[in-house]
Amino acid sequence: MIEINTTKPAFYLHAANTTYAFEVTSEGDLAHLYWGPRLHSQDVSHLGRVRGRAFSPNPQNCHDTYTLDSLPLEYSAYGTSDFRSPAVEVFQPRDGSRIVELKYTSHRLIPGKPKLDGLPSTFTSESEAETLAVTLRDAKTGFEVELLYTVFEKHPVITRTARLTNQGSDPLQLRRALSCSVDFTPEYSGYSFLQLSGAWTQERNLIVSPLRPGMQSVESRRGASSHQHNPFVALTEFGASEERGRVYGMNLIYSGGFLGAAEVDIDGQPRLQIGVNPFDFGWLLNPGESFQTPEAVLVFSAEGLGEMSRSMHRFYRKHLINPRWADRPRPVVINNWEATYFNFNTDKLCAIAEQASKVGIEMLVVDDGWFGHRMDDKSSLGDWTPDLKRLPGGLEELGRRITGMGMQLGLWFEPEMISPDSDLFRQHPDWHLRVPGRPGMLGRSQFVLDFSRPEVREEIYRQMATILRSTPITFVKWDMNRHMTEIGSSALPPERQFETAHRYILGLYEFLERFTTEFPHVLIESCSGGGGRFDPGMLYYTPQIWTSDNSDAISRLKIQHGTSLVYPFSTLSAHVSAVPNCAVGRTTPFTTRGHVALTGAFGYELDLTECTPEEIEEVRTQVAAYKTHSKLLLEGDLYRLRSPFESNETAWMMVAPDRSEALVTYVLVLSACNTPNRNLPLRGLDPAKRYRLAGTERVYSGKTLMYGGVEIPIPDRDFRSYQWHFIAEQG
Ligand code: DGJ
Repeated sequence: MIEINTTKPAFYLHAANTTYAFEVTSEGDLAHLYWGPRLHSQDVSHLGRVRGRAFSPNPQNCHDTYTLDSLPLEYSAYGTSDFRSPAVEVFQPRDGSRIVELKYTSHRLIPGKPKLDGLPSTFTSESEAETLAVTLRDAKTGFEVELLYTVFEKHPVITRTARLTNQGSDPLQLRRALSCSVDFTPEYSGYSFLQLSGAWTQERNLIVSPLRPGMQSVESRRGASSHQHNPFVALTEFGASEERGRVYGMNLIYSGGFLGAAEVDIDGQPRLQIGVNPFDFGWLLNPGESFQTPEAVLVFSAEGLGEMSRSMHRFYRKHLINPRWADRPRPVVINNWEATYFNFNTDKLCAIAEQASKVGIEMLVVDDGWFGHRMDDKSSLGDWTPDLKRLPGGLEELGRRITGMGMQLGLWFEPEMISPDSDLFRQHPDWHLRVPGRPGMLGRSQFVLDFSRPEVREEIYRQMATILRSTPITFVKWDMNRHMTEIGSSALPPERQFETAHRYILGLYEFLERFTTEFPHVLIESCSGGGGRFDPGMLYYTPQIWTSDNSDAISRLKIQHGTSLVYPFSTLSAHVSAVPNCAVGRTTPFTTRGHVALTGAFGYELDLTECTPEEIEEVRTQVAAYKTHSKLLLEGDLYRLRSPFESNETAWMMVAPDRSEALVTYVLVLSACNTPNRNLPLRGLDPAKRYRLAGTERVYSGKTLMYGGVEIPIPDRDFRSYQWHFIAEQG
């Protein structure tokens, strides 16, 4: 997988169908050579470009023939001659300098992939991947950067991370420490910048803008990856579509503030970067100390966005999501939030669960309001003991009744938060993120607990573990409903305050590591006001994520479509909810709500005791369908046939890896009168196979379905949907 020309040295990383190459220049800089379709090392070696240019300073021995300003670099440092956006900036308190010059010193090969200290990261066996570690060093300060590149044999994926160490004798302060930076050649200036951006209830819209000279970026300064921007950016070839065009994607395995950016320089060379947001960031490195950047996942597709997504999905299912859950059918849940909000008690929950148990639903998830004295969203976060007025007999009694119905029990927590009206706050008024002398902003009437502090995490862990050890809870919904402000920690000295937000995220990961180790049988669904923290860092610990607080089937088309660009459908929690929808007031057919939710981790979010007998029958059918398709939904390849961002209709298709079956979901938004007959061409099938449409005697060849298509019924109303299941005939 990794080829090295030791004379230069030069490095050629060959992942499935992809080559990524770089070399050491005559001046000891690490220069990027190539990233794209697979090539032999000999075909890449001539690509190195070193040339001077006006107003670009040169090393003293090079006159005007060499400048870092035009050199494609693997990890650029601020201060000498590269005027583009650097990957790293190091403040030297001793003399006030911010300059480091990173020169190659050594490299080594590591079988498989080392685990990252304190951070979630992709994992692999030694036979499936190989890691190259290249060390760069600044001779003056002793600042050292170890760049790690892991190459995966079966995936067009390379992961990158940097370990930054102070090998000198004076303290240093990192001001910027990105995970990855890639310089492309000027031919790429005609590419576009792809981002997934939105807002609460409108997450991850697919936005593509032409590259232009200067910076284009997305970032979060909110202490969470955020609803606003996802830690994913890509360069796409002009006109790239689902099936065509080159795509270069970068995803950061991190749940806090991040920066994803493309900068096009005066020569038209794009630099694509991703990492922890340098805004309001600092990290003190005393002699001997290291800083580990989060891992960046680099993916290449020569066949459009569809292939890129399928590569990411396969990769994350195999190398990021907990193997215990990755391929395990998820329980069908009924969550009481949109059914009752804060208005429930044991009897009400049991009434809903009883109806649910009769139609095959497997789990009751008790949402917000079961603890402290929480009658609304204004109190009790931090007091994780059951409210005995609501739940007489506590969780034990509820657990007994629910498991007695043959159902499992799940419970909502918001572990990272504290309400000013809570016993925890009264005991520890300084346990939240705060700056002394400032009152602090409330968000949803709550503060953010300072998860950088071990004693804070310990107390929350104690409370949660007490419940999990004594009740039959097998599912936790882990929510997080406000962003960070007044970012400061009472536990850190002034010079380390810039570290608070990152230390918080490290604390969160430590908590989740401990929690998943003690309670491996508990499936965690994470959530942040819906999809405000839908990132690979959370996915590492929580195999599914509540995709959005907007459960309207039509709004979900864009949200789920955009999210699927990077993340597998099986990780998108999707529920059927009541109409008119509580977020947008829209009334859609029950069937359509079912079809849209049936593509993700499936469940309900409505009061089943108020459903009509016809609706209950439909629930029974939907639950049975989910159980039939759960393996396909977990393991299948996604083909996006129609985009809600481009048209009035959406179509998705999951195809079994051996192409033995496929599930097609089609949704029309607005109907029209007098429309022509139309077909929907499918993809990903075996043209030579014959497929029967389940529930009928109709059989089609794969060729017919792909080149001719499935007939779309003439629409007779808005929001109509269809789901077709094709099964390959034996022999
Ligand atoms: C926000 C979540 O996204 C909802 O599903 C629900 O759990 C509420 N929080 C509860 O406060």
